[in-house]
Amino acid sequence: MPAVVVVGTQWGDEGKGKVVDLFSQDADYIVRFQGGNNAGHTLVVNGKKYIFHLIPSGILHQDKMCLIGNGVVLDPGVLIEELDKLENNGLKVTPQNLMISEHLHVIMPYHKALDVAREERKGKGKIGTTGRGIGPCYEDKVARTGIRMNDLLDKEIFMSKLEKNLAEKNFILTDFLNSEPLSSEKIYRAYEEYAERLRPYVGSVSKELSKAFNENLNILFEGAQGTHLDIDHGTYPYVTSSNVVAGNACCGTGIGPTQIDKVIGICKAYTTRVGGGPFVTELHDEVGKHIQQSGGEYGSTTGRPRRCGWLDTVVVNNAVRLNGLSWLAMTKLDVLTGVEPIKICVAYKYNGTEMKDFPLQVKVLEKCEPVYETLEGWKEPITDARSFSDLPENAKKYVRRVEELTGVPVKLISVGPEREQTILLENPFSG
Ligand code: GDP
Ligand code: IMO
Ligand code: MG
Repeated sequence: MPAVVVVGTQWGDEGKGKVVDLFSQDADYIVRFQGGNNAGHTLVVNGKKYIFHLIPSGILHQDKMCLIGNGVVLDPGVLIEELDKLENNGLKVTPQNLMISEHLHVIMPYHKALDVAREERKGKGKIGTTGRGIGPCYEDKVARTGIRMNDLLDKEIFMSKLEKNLAEKNFILTDFLNSEPLSSEKIYRAYEEYAERLRPYVGSVSKELSKAFNENLNILFEGAQGTHLDIDHGTYPYVTSSNVVAGNACCGTGIGPTQIDKVIGICKAYTTRVGGGPFVTELHDEVGKHIQQSGGEYGSTTGRPRRCGWLDTVVVNNAVRLNGLSWLAMTKLDVLTGVEPIKICVAYKYNGTEMKDFPLQVKVLEKCEPVYETLEGWKEPITDARSFSDLPENAKKYVRRVEELTGVPVKLISVGPEREQTILLENPFSG
């Protein structure tokens, strides 16, 4: 039975949550493998909106197992808030439907303080992080000083690591960043409570997945962020601090590459970006404003307005290569209804020469001009379309053109935020 990875092809917020919720209907396991609560994944089911930052977007399907892999950085306070919210909505989350990796790294208050203070210090050149402590937590992981979930569960180890880390962090916070020091007792007390609340959920995600593979179950890996925010392959330094690409579904959960069957790229019908960094097709005009308004392009984590622009197939093609995409899911096509004409970026112009490969140096990217192809738009609302033939001719042409330009078939078209507002041309778990 297949293991399917879902990743964002752009700069995040492509609609991964909606698609993962939909695919979860046929999955047995839904697994987060990287990122943390910098993610905001929105699902709308029967008019009710849910935003998940840490819990996999399959949780609304109560008979499925949700896993949070070792590649995730986890803020326990945020996870507990999510658990409480779900419970208030009448949804049950127990160790029978949620497991947290014993090896994932825990976000500490000093990570958040460092994230915020460093951004402040950078001023104009800031990355525009979510301020959730993601970067500093991954830094500690790589520096081999981080606190893992199983450290949090052991009072002695936790206290000793906390004291050691805090001594260094407080020095940086006060002497270098002109910020306030943090108290270890206060942190210890809060985290001791978190540990007891989360203890029953902690286990080996790798072993759990091995069991699932042996039982031939359907496994869905839910990516966070988008390919161009990847720490290695994205628009560095305007990126997040984890590997976002599909390959990290293996490292971030403890499975092997031969176990992945399909990789599906989520591609918004236009492009958005939150925070700083180059964005070749960004629109600073009325069309951009219109897309922002009608697409509701405001961050689900920080509420910041998202920068909007035309679909950039140079970007999408880069994601096709980096992830080995099997097919694309195109979301938010309905937002382009009434936009006339519609443009697609097919290449960049740099120093007078045209190029089709996405350049990774920010310096080059900042000087690239988009080369557009213009397509006719459509006026008919498409939110009720449920099959490809229901779409207006020009909407069909738009989708077909994206397939031609990327060389990858579009097998899902999303025409609204609701689970049902979807044209599904292929079930990811069949074939
Ligand atoms: P994610 O981070 O990739 O999961 O995406 P977000 O949830 O941050 O942002 C996507 C937003 O678009 C959410 O508010 C979704 O409810 C909404 N959305 C998803 N698909 C569609 C669609 O096809 N049409 C419209 N209009 N909204 C959609
Ligand atoms: P989802 O999963 C959009 C962006 C931030 C910032 C950069 C670094 O909802 O698609 P970080 O806090 O990770 O150190 O910030 O990455 N960013 C996202 N942008 N969607 C996300 O997640 C993002 N997660 C991080 O805005 O530019
Ligand atoms: Mg999001």
